[in-house]
Order: sequence, then structure tokens, then C-alpha cells
Amino acid sequence: QFDLKTNEKGNLSIGGEDALELAQRYKTPLYVIDENKIRENYRRLYKAFSQYYKDFKMFYACKANTNLAVMRILEEEGSGIDAVSPGEIYTSLLAGFDPSRILYTGNNVTDEELEFALSSGVRLNVDSISQLKRLSKIPGSEGLEISFRVNPMVGAGHHDHCITGGPLSKFGIMEEEAVDVYKMAQDMGFKPVGIHSHIGSGILDPEPFMLAVRTLMDIAGRVHEGAGVEFDFIDFGGGIGIPYTPEESKLDINVFAKKITDLFKDKLNEYSLGKPTMCIEPGRYIVGDASVLLTQVNSIKQSYRKFAGVDAGFNTLLRPTMYDSYHHIVVADKPYAETTQKIDIAGDVCESGDLFARDRPMPEIEEGDVLAILNAGAYSFSMSSQYNSRPRPAEVLVKDGESEVVRERETFADLFNKQNVPVRLLK
Ligand code: LLP
Repeated sequence: QFDLKTNEKGNLSIGGEDALELAQRYKTPLYVIDENKIRENYRRLYKAFSQYYKDFKMFYACKANTNLAVMRILEEEGSGIDAVSPGEIYTSLLAGFDPSRILYTGNNVTDEELEFALSSGVRLNVDSISQLKRLSKIPGSEGLEISFRVNPMVGAGHHDHCITGGPLSKFGIMEEEAVDVYKMAQDMGFKPVGIHSHIGSGILDPEPFMLAVRTLMDIAGRVHEGAGVEFDFIDFGGGIGIPYTPEESKLDINVFAKKITDLFKDKLNEYSLGKPTMCIEPGRYIVGDASVLLTQVNSIKQSYRKFAGVDAGFNTLLRPTMYDSYHHIVVADKPYAETTQKIDIAGDVCESGDLFARDRPMPEIEEGDVLAILNAGAYSFSMSSQYNSRPRPAEVLVKDGESEVVRERETFADLFNKQNVPVRLLK
């Protein structure tokens, strides 16, 4: 299911590198990123859609993983970027993306952030009337081509926190106001050329996507008819899930792409919308399975339950604690060993919620073993913190049996970076 490779020693092999050797060489906890997997994922997804609709673009949702090396790889592959903050715009520019390939979808943005986005030349995807009005006051915004994020009243996701469409969502303009908002933008002198929705994240069922595509296309049709907007692009956002548990299965991406593009083309005809660029914004699908987190078992403890304590925590990988997410875990020197026990795998943060797994079937584990936490490429390092004053881990990139550090492990000094204890507080 998880396509784990082993080498002649029986150890987990990532990008041709021995996971145990990587752990020894670079220490743990360690994120290991497999370059080829990122490229394969990007190409598979791009091909799936573009075979059915030529004018197709992908905007990598870089919030999933903003490592500069990862961003460079995707720049080379020809991706665009979905950026949600000035920091992500800055990172994308630094990684070499032309501003025209960056779509900025901010929410609850400040005027300063709008100014930054405008001056960097990226494309703006407007989330609210407030944002539109404030944008119109910024010099240089006259005649700007913009798009709107619309809430299609469909939401889906692996957890409530990850549902971004529907009545509870803070994102986008309302479906009912769409025509008026596009007209308002035109009256202000903007040139609205795009429409966007993103319904949630971690979706393995094609149905909610289909519903969102249908709804967004109907809205686009009304906006075209009611406000005369000619769409250059229609963007369905991200959200394509990957299997995290052994029981889940992958989306058949070709079948999925065919369904979506068929519906898209039907709706283009129905509303005479011409041939706009079709866009999606995948994050997880591109990078999710391309990394593992290596962590060493530092203590085995038999308390009221049996615990394997490791040297990573929710400061390193938050998803299990934040969303109760399942991440498959294997022992690096015997990834296919039979499971013989159920054990809790706990981190080193001083909180009870710091668990990577509860009652997880595992083979025998000893202190010193290295565990590989799989599918740690998306929303993993990017959601890490220094909580408990623990420096963030290193990241290495592996490819064809070679590895290179792409982010150094933080040191204690990084914990105090930018802090200042005022002299007046010192005795
Ligand atoms: N586009 C927009 C506007 C988004 O907000 C997101 C994700 C994406 C695209 C990419 O979604 P993806 O293809 O990766 O599902 N921290 C959570 C996920 C939050 C996603 C937020 N928005 C997690 O760890 O599961």
C-alpha cells in the first residue's frame, strides 16, 4: 500500500538511501524528502487532467511544504503556486517562480499585505468585499485583473478543521452575492477574469469535488450572463487526498480527472464560457507521501499502558494531535516485520496529547530503534514549532542514492533569535 522499498540489509530505503544510515549521519528527528516522488506525483496529476483538457494548470499549494528545495523542484516541473501569505509569496519568488505564476489567496488580509502582494506582481484572488474595497484604494490597483474565491456551499475534508466550504466557513464570497460582487469590481475599475473555490483538504471521495465543480460552474455561468465576465481561468482549489491508513485506497486519478473535466467541459458549453484555463491547487497530493519523519525510540516504558517514547513530538509533526490523524509507522530496520503487540507511540513534549499512535499494532520495538513515520511530506514540517524549547529538526533531500541537507537542524540559539530582555528588567 505504501510502496516501501528495502535494501539488501532489509532496511527501509528512501530515494536509494538507507534510512538507518540517514538517521545516524544527520541525527533524529529528521525529515527525509524523496525528490523523485515529488516529480512523479506532479507529473501523474498533471498528465491525468491535461490529457482531457489541454489548457490546464496546477498551482502547488505551498503551505503543505515550503522548503525551498521542494519549491525549486516544482518550479522546474512547471507548476504555479497557491500562496496564502506574504511570507509564502516571498518564498515562492525566492524559489524562482515568476510572479505571474503565483496566485495569492489571502483571507482576513491587512492593507499592508495587499500592498505587498500588489507590488510583487502576483495575481490576486479576492476573498471578501472588504478586501476588494481596500484593494481599490491602493495606488496601482486600477485596472487590475483579479479573481474571486467563492464559497460553493459544499465542503469536505478529513477533519472538521479542514472543511473550507459550506455555511460555517470563513472563506470566500457568498454564492448569492457573486454576480453583484463581480459587477461591483467592474464598477471599481477592476478586470475580474477568474473564479475560484476550495472546499477542503484530504478528500478521497470524488463526489464532493463533482458537486463543487458543478456549483462553481453554475455560479460562473451566472456571473458570465449577469456581469458579462469572460473567464480566463476557473480554479477548483486543492483537496485531493492520499491514503494514510493501510485500509484506505488511492483515488484513481485518471478516472477522477476524466469525471471532473467532462463535467467542466459540459458546463463550459452550457453557459458558453469559451475555453478558460482550468486550474487546481494540489498540496498534499504532490508532497504528502514524498517524506518520512525518522525518529529514534529513546525509552520503552511499561506503565498502565505500554509506551514507546520517541525523540519527536507534536512540535515536530502536529497532525496526529491536532486532527487525530493516522500516520503509518514502521521500524526502519524491519519495515515489513509482523506485528506482535499493541503499543502507544508517544512524543517528548510535556503534554498528554503528544501521541503519534494509540494502541498501534507494531513489531517488537527496542530502545535505540529508528521509527519511520510515513506520509510526512504535507503539513508536517510546515506546521512544526519550537514548543517546549525544542529546536526544529533538519530536512534532507534524497535522490538516486544521494542525500543533501536542505534545512539545517536548529540550535538553541534559534530559540532566542529576535528576543530581547529589556535592560530595565535586569537587576
Ligand atoms: N488551496 C487552498 C486555497 C487551500 O486553502 C488549500 C489547503 C489548498 C489549496 C491545498 O489543499 P490540499 O491539496 O493540500 O488538500 N493542515 C491540514 C490541511 C489544511 C489545508 C489548508 N488548505 C492537514 O494537515 O491536514
